[in-house]
Amino acid sequence: MERFYISTAIDYPNGAPHIGHAYEKIVTDAHARWQRLMGKETYFLTGTDENGQKLQESAKLEGKETIDFVDENVALFHKFCNDLNISFDDFIRTTEERHKKVACDFWKRLEVKGDLYFGKYSGQYCISCENFYTELQAPDKICPHHNKALELKEEDGYFFKMSQYQDWIINTIKANPEFIVPQSSHKEILSRLENETIRDVAFSRPNNGWGIPVPGQEEKFVMYTWCDALVNYYSALVDKNLEPKFWPADVHVIGKDIAWFHCVIWPCMLHALEIPLPKQVYVHGMVLGADGKKMSKSLNNGVAPYDMLKKYPLDTLRYYLLRGIPATSDGAFVEEDLVTRNNSELGNDYGNLIMRVIKLSLKHLPEMVNAEGLTLELTFDDIIEKMKQSMNKREHNRALDALWEGVNRANQYVNEKAPWKLKNDPEALTPVVYNCLSGIHTLASLLYPFLPETGAKTLEYLDIGFRNFTDESNLCHTSQTPPYTLTTPEALFPKIEA
Ligand code: ME8
Repeated sequence: MERFYISTAIDYPNGAPHIGHAYEKIVTDAHARWQRLMGKETYFLTGTDENGQKLQESAKLEGKETIDFVDENVALFHKFCNDLNISFDDFIRTTEERHKKVACDFWKRLEVKGDLYFGKYSGQYCISCENFYTELQAPDKICPHHNKALELKEEDGYFFKMSQYQDWIINTIKANPEFIVPQSSHKEILSRLENETIRDVAFSRPNNGWGIPVPGQEEKFVMYTWCDALVNYYSALVDKNLEPKFWPADVHVIGKDIAWFHCVIWPCMLHALEIPLPKQVYVHGMVLGADGKKMSKSLNNGVAPYDMLKKYPLDTLRYYLLRGIPATSDGAFVEEDLVTRNNSELGNDYGNLIMRVIKLSLKHLPEMVNAEGLTLELTFDDIIEKMKQSMNKREHNRALDALWEGVNRANQYVNEKAPWKLKNDPEALTPVVYNCLSGIHTLASLLYPFLPETGAKTLEYLDIGFRNFTDESNLCHTSQTPPYTLTTPEALFPKIEA
């Protein structure tokens, strides 16, 4: 069986999860569920990044022990994943022993390799990113992501000799055009690498009582948080002995603010240790406020995920984030658009299709509808193919566009065949209804990775399992004509008043 290992970034549990976290988890979940549907043995990792200095400072502000502060917030992230119906296989916390052990092992191996040295660092630092910025990136000494003044930081500590890998990483990225997707991110990273001399990276900071102590220098230094955080993708596999099975990862899903760490620093670390690189880093865009600007308290343009979940069904939120926000660039979260899409695409196009077909069938035909020698005339092989291609390009919004072509095709079929006119002629009505039900079977199966609750509910109404999409040579349905035993559906996606 083919395998697929996919991960989200690990979040800073610095407060409650925000809409960007929801977005990344839902996107990754849709891809993980899709790969499972396509028959791959899939492993989906998410978790929290807990060793940063920022967490220690936030805890202090709240008058809490760092570990208590972190534990409370991690519980929120864990619950958040469940509330969003995220099908993760593992949730790693970087304060867990299993992670610390592997991070220390990475450190020792880099040291043995001669890739770490002791030196002095001076640079402009943003504590929110836990990152140093170069003059080129922040000429005015303002963090490009947080829009606040950088601090001059001068420290003794350990460095990773990343500069020696500059040519190697450029060549690697050029030779593997799919390593960084989308193209815009591939180009951006490459252009920075070609126009800047990359510097060695600070890999430690003074030990102030929080973080993973540097092996051999426990009293004085802890690892720089990014140095240990990136290792999570690997450490999560080790204690379960899963790395022979799932490493190298198929795709790390991350936001563009942390692309450099994943597309440059992480591959250089792995290369130094002769560990195979992940096959791909998928850099998604940022969810912006309705005004198209970065969400911030001062602009009051933020969207809180739990506010959305109180007002709308989870699958409406999932659908909006997956289709309404472009997969390859930033997108504004506009609540009115979410409502419009709920009412028109989910309610009218999809929900009504299910409703009218099943209700009509239950009214005029037996509960069980059979194919019996019938040739299917409502088919979706082209749609399935388009969806596969889009998902392989990590363009889930395009995959949903294609799926909606299918939904529209089914609606058009119903309108053309006008089964209500055949209600007194079961022999003529049965094949039309069967075609519709078979279509719904396919569409609901394809919808499941994106809207798992809706997909599963629809299949329950037909009393049927997923379509089998795994046989490449026989794009499903023509060979699959099971009987459907119907139950009365409840209205899917009732209209929301704007
Ligand atoms: O960066 N829209 O954690 P984090 C979309 N701990 N995605 C967003 C977003 C937005 N508005 N805001 C943030 C970290 N994200 C590190 C990661 S991985 C080894 C360490 C994304 O909690 C962001 O791009 O700040 C990142 O991929 C993820 O949320 C976690 O962000």
